[in-house]
Amino acid sequence: MSSHLLSVDSLSRDHVDHLLRVASRMEPIAQRRKVTRVLEGAVLGNLFFEASTRTRVSFHAAFCRLGGSVCDTTGFTFSSMAKGESLYDTSRVMSGYCDAIVMRHPDQGSVAEFAQATNVPVINGGDGPGEHPSQALLDLYTIDKEFTRLGKTLAGAHLLLTGDLKYGRTVHSLIKLLSLYAPMRITLVSPPGLEMPSHLVDLVASRGHRVELRESLASDFSDLDVIYTTRIQKERFTEEMMESFSGVSQDFTIDRAFLDQRCNDTTIVMHPLPRDSRPGANDLNVDLNGDPRLAIFRQTDNGIPVRMAIFATLLEVEDQIEKDLRDVTWFVPRKLGVDDREF
Ligand code: NCD
Repeated sequence: MSSHLLSVDSLSRDHVDHLLRVASRMEPIAQRRKVTRVLEGAVLGNLFFEASTRTRVSFHAAFCRLGGSVCDTTGFTFSSMAKGESLYDTSRVMSGYCDAIVMRHPDQGSVAEFAQATNVPVINGGDGPGEHPSQALLDLYTIDKEFTRLGKTLAGAHLLLTGDLKYGRTVHSLIKLLSLYAPMRITLVSPPGLEMPSHLVDLVASRGHRVELRESLASDFSDLDVIYTTRIQKERFTEEMMESFSGVSQDFTIDRAFLDQRCNDTTIVMHPLPRDSRPGANDLNVDLNGDPRLAIFRQTDNGIPVRMAIFATLLEVEDQIEKDLRDVTWFVPRKLGVDDREF
């Protein structure tokens, strides 16, 4: 792995497998049974210039769980970029303060530009509609864990990616990552105008996967293994798109009726979150809460071990993790959420 994590393009299948194995070794710490201090003394710079809850907090928590400390800044208003500072200058300045940097920025390519000015490892926490590699890694880790529990394999699996496939950066990174694995069937369903970029469809098809593009969810998905649905990224729409999109109906909502009528008992439902839970939102329906097929909170939990693995690998401490493990001393509830299932 290079010294930065900017795009899934820099990862080979071996790198990904290695990262996921390191992530599994992080589970006792992520699940708050063990404590490690391998990154004691290290400082993370968490720079978020776009809205975020889970990516920002889980990178922060993952670094802390490895024993490190975190400095962060959110939004342009409170950063010197508001005074016209360049990415180059901010990057060099932050390198003097931090041992690793996570950055989210609304412009595609900006995190790569930032990384050019530093030798400190930089992780892309989302660059506009570009990529979100750590999310794709935790998504793949989730699929792998869920499939192991269900006795399934990726080879030959049928995955549905739906929602905003044009501006949703998580699906851009995920589809590239999936394409490194054994041939599978990938169905892409999105509202008109929000289709997956064609170069990504071509890439996946060229690697031997069966890719199907559809405009509606009104078909039989009885052999489906994974639904990965995404929020419509209205904040990235032009005014013209806003107008044309206001006519799109509820057809893209994933709810309990869709799962019961068109899918099967072991179809898992994933979403990078946040989901828009307001009435009438064209997003993953809250009526699936408590359904064991809804994997979204197991998915967010997986953000911790995977992001710990990214830091441990980039900062070259992955061989030291088991060295100084101690037992957790504080109270941790057996189930974290009231609707959590025990598998
Ligand atoms: C996504 C993002 O910011 O790309 N969320 C996340 O990081 N988990 C998806 C979104 O905003 O819809």
